[in-house]
Amino acid sequence: MKTLRPITPHSILTEKLKQLRNDPSLKETSDNFQKELNRVYLLASGLDKYLEENTTSEPASLASLSQETRKFDWETDRGKHDVFLEAEMLSGHVEGQFLKTLVSATKSKNILEIGMFTGYSAISMARGLPDDGELIACEIDAEAAAIAEKSILSAGLEKKIKIIIGPAMDTLKKISKQNLTFDFIFVDADKQNYTNYVQYILKSNLLRIGGLCVVDNTLLQGEVYLDRVDRSEAGHAINLFNQYLNNEKQMEQVIIPLRDGVTVSERVK
Ligand SMILES: C[S@@+](CC[C@H](N)C(=O)[O-])C[C@H]1O[C@@H](n2cnc3c(N)ncnc32)[C@H](O)[C@@H]1O
Repeated sequence: MKTLRPITPHSILTEKLKQLRNDPSLKETSDNFQKELNRVYLLASGLDKYLEENTTSEPASLASLSQETRKFDWETDRGKHDVFLEAEMLSGHVEGQFLKTLVSATKSKNILEIGMFTGYSAISMARGLPDDGELIACEIDAEAAAIAEKSILSAGLEKKIKIIIGPAMDTLKKISKQNLTFDFIFVDADKQNYTNYVQYILKSNLLRIGGLCVVDNTLLQGEVYLDRVDRSEAGHAINLFNQYLNNEKQMEQVIIPLRDGVTVSERVK
């Protein structure tokens, strides 16, 4: 099975420290320096494992979805998709449990997800819904949606999760015509459109006052706080999105440094 490359600020930092620790030129440095470097590496490398171990266990259905997503050959399959897809996109155990806890603690009943991929976060959030709760998931890629659909069925959540395939902005426009309002919205799709999505969500009242808008990858591998020259286009877009949200008077937010950064924002006006 494919080993996932580091895609969070913390795992990238850990990988860099590992390379540094194994760098032959550092063998010449003092014992104290090497001991301290080793300690810094252990501090960094132990965190994700500790978080996994001390988070409520991952249900078997989600563990197997995670494995299936990792086994899938996204690279060979790439030409068939309009968007770039890779196994690393899946949110996973700790973030999934975080989302489920947020949904159930806020007693949310209606959820909108923008960017479902193979369904890990959709299933996690739906597990936090009451019996009459519903989640609408927007996904542009039909093949990723098909994998999600299979897992949703095996998790017995088909009555709660409705998938809409197509560009999310088109779906938002269709949904807003039906006057739907959500308690909880999770944004995890194309980074260049994050600001457009949240502006549209507020303009068309898709999020109720007091509802939560949770946004993934808002640290974008640490690029948001690095110099502009070290930022990809996605990093630049997320940096602008974070500035927009910070100035948006209808929202109050906090960036949680979980995985690649998760912003939890509440609509206050
Ligand atoms: C980071 S992945 C989502 C991961 C998922 N939320 C999870 O936790 O497993 C981003 C997804 O957004 C989808 N996507 C990208 N652009 C989109 C668009 N314009 N409309 C709808 N979905 C889009 C991609 O196909 C991909 O499946």
